[in-house]
Amino acid sequence: MLWCSVLGSVNMDFVVEVERLPSPGETMPGLSFARYPGGKGANQAVAAARLGARVSFFGKVGGDTFGEELLRTLHENKVNVEAVEREPSSPSGIAFISVAQGGENTIIYVPGANAHVNPSYVDRVLAKLLAAEILLLQLEIPLPTIAYLLKRLPRDRPVVILDPAPALPQKGFNLPLTRVDIITPNRGELFALTGEKDVERAGKALLSRGVGRVICKAGKEGAFLIEGSSFRHFPGFCVDPVDTTAAGDAFNGGLAVALAEGKPLEEAIIWANAAGALATTRKGAQPSLPQRKEVEALLQKSAR
Ligand code: RIB
Repeated sequence: MLWCSVLGSVNMDFVVEVERLPSPGETMPGLSFARYPGGKGANQAVAAARLGARVSFFGKVGGDTFGEELLRTLHENKVNVEAVEREPSSPSGIAFISVAQGGENTIIYVPGANAHVNPSYVDRVLAKLLAAEILLLQLEIPLPTIAYLLKRLPRDRPVVILDPAPALPQKGFNLPLTRVDIITPNRGELFALTGEKDVERAGKALLSRGVGRVICKAGKEGAFLIEGSSFRHFPGFCVDPVDTTAAGDAFNGGLAVALAEGKPLEEAIIWANAAGALATTRKGAQPSLPQRKEVEALLQKSAR
């Protein structure tokens, strides 16, 4: 069975549904409240596991009861959490999410224990992490830790897929990108990282910094692939979105699984688009991540 490692964040999400996203200074009534397991790293781990990969998650939870709950959920989703450490003096990561009618969201993230994922943790887990064919990374753990890890990876294995989320300004983004095989920003992240306002130009700016390929996640429009001198669009799937939280994480999980199974990149992007679209049709982060048979059914339906 193919193997993915995910180094990243794990959060408890506090989610409020609202009619529309509030303006600065505004107080407004919420429609509902719920709490779900989330965090970009943990979401990508669960996404890949539900789609059929053997997944190990690397990161930290706090000494609180959320920490126990978050670990239990990962374990119930067949994600290996043996290398996850607890930070007894820190709370677990938390995210406050507003979801508007139609699925659009805003997220405020408080890192908690995720901020303690440091280079010495990387040293402790590196050998286990390298057992995988694919390594998934995001930016909810400290950037110096990701830079440290990228510099320690062997040249050819594992394949590194970096999700540069949440968005970082161009100035703050100085990772050794030559060891990143695929970077998967959404439009906002791509523009923030490059200072450009056009997907193709922005993608090429990242390529010039040494990334292997750029896949820009474009929500209901699907995704754009920028590699070498080519620029291609992969249309999205038609679904009725209720909550876009973790759609990008489902995309990355789907991309990783499809690539690890040996699918060509073009097919892997279509797979990832299907996983991302399905994640928008249900509420919450981890509860919304699709099972493999759902992705296959959507792909079959759209092929007819
Ligand atoms: O990508 C979605 C995730 O971002 C949420 O689960 C939340 O925890 C934030 O980190």
